[in-house]
Amino acid sequence: MALRPDGGRAARAPQGAERAELIERTLEQYRRHLNPGLARLFQFGGVETVEWAAEGCLVWDVHGREYIDCACGPAIFNIGHRHPRVLAAVRDQLERMPMSVRTMPSVPQAALAERLAQLSPGDLQYAFFGNSGAEANEGAIKLARLATGRPGIIAMQGGFHGKTLGALSATGRDHYKTPFEPLVPQFTHVPFGDASALDAAIGSTTAAVMLEPIQGEAGVIIPPPGYLRQVREICDRRGVLLIADEIQTGMGRTGRMFCVEHEAVVPDIMTLAKALGGGVIPIGAFVARPHLWEKMRRDPYLHSSTFGGNPLACRAALATLEVLVEERLPARAEPLGAQFLGRLREIQAQHPSVVSAVRGRGLMLGVEFVHPDLALMTSAEAGRRGVITFYTLNNPNVIRIEPPLVITPELIDRAAQGIAGAVADAARLLDPVPPHAGGRREAPAGP
Ligand SMILES: Cc1ncc(COP(=O)(O)O)c(C=O)c1O
Repeated sequence: MALRPDGGRAARAPQGAERAELIERTLEQYRRHLNPGLARLFQFGGVETVEWAAEGCLVWDVHGREYIDCACGPAIFNIGHRHPRVLAAVRDQLERMPMSVRTMPSVPQAALAERLAQLSPGDLQYAFFGNSGAEANEGAIKLARLATGRPGIIAMQGGFHGKTLGALSATGRDHYKTPFEPLVPQFTHVPFGDASALDAAIGSTTAAVMLEPIQGEAGVIIPPPGYLRQVREICDRRGVLLIADEIQTGMGRTGRMFCVEHEAVVPDIMTLAKALGGGVIPIGAFVARPHLWEKMRRDPYLHSSTFGGNPLACRAALATLEVLVEERLPARAEPLGAQFLGRLREIQAQHPSVVSAVRGRGLMLGVEFVHPDLALMTSAEAGRRGVITFYTLNNPNVIRIEPPLVITPELIDRAAQGIAGAVADAARLLDPVPPHAGGRREAPAGP
């Protein structure tokens, strides 16, 4: 496949025997020193390459092959790969002071906290910065316990909040939890979207309800309309806090800066990560209403992190927020998402025996298959056709489509064509009987 016309980074990748040696060495390092299971998965997916460069919506491997990024890492490249404004801000900070000494106030950290408060719904006002989504959720859980003096957290079946012990305790899939039990006590789970079940589960020891406004890793599950408002009302009536995990849904992904805004809901604590750092520097955060911060005020080191809120990450996040606002990227996600969803619906209509559902909001889309192997095969084949997708951690039947919000209608068409071709291939494997032999066979689609 052609290298980039400008002969950029991909062209500077090693060639020939040197390239083959680099790929083999890297896969061997995975097998011997990093993650043999992942190496096996790469092998199964036919991934005989390594990632090399990225820009905007595109990624290149070491062969110079081009991919449209429809997974985004997942969900971290909302403003595209290597946005120039984020790179410039990070370079500027890198030249001066990348990390904080912490004995003096940090300008980028304070500015980011203020900007987040301005953009967050309602009176969410105080921010704490960490380095990942799980860490943001750990902090939110601790703050809920501290502020209420109660230990209980009610989370959602199928939900995903990360894999550190506290966040894992809130996560709703046993597969990831059972091997590490006992987890943190006092976590219970109720069905997502069922307000009565939630109301019934709240007791005298409940501190908070924790949910994703749209469940990402559960397979892009959208709750019934009005559910978030009902949850807010229940929490208010029962005197418990609402923690909204916007780590995947936030930063414009669903058509609003934060997904709770679709129902004008103000959570008590909101957690962020993934796209907050612009896909350049990792950063996580929880933002809380002021009255919850009372007990934190008494001891500023009650919760802390060495690298959390470092100047590099905060400059990246500040630049990312400006790009999201000035380029109006949340609003872009709605029409582009509708276009992509329309194309996915056509694919489903052509292959109903392979694709059982498509759904989504903004550019947070999911394609559900009748069997996990078909999801895996389609994702692998889409990769071979130059489209990156990714399955969802708590629902292997579903692959997610979460491209950068800067994607163009033309790239959506190209990506949809690649996915259609991959689904058609999966359909052929499912039913290899040729049509003239009288067997069931779906119409071929895409390239
Ligand atoms: C909703 C949600 N919360 C938390 C996390 C965990 O984030 P991290 O992997 O940065 O710890 C994820 C990651 O997929 C997520 O989707």
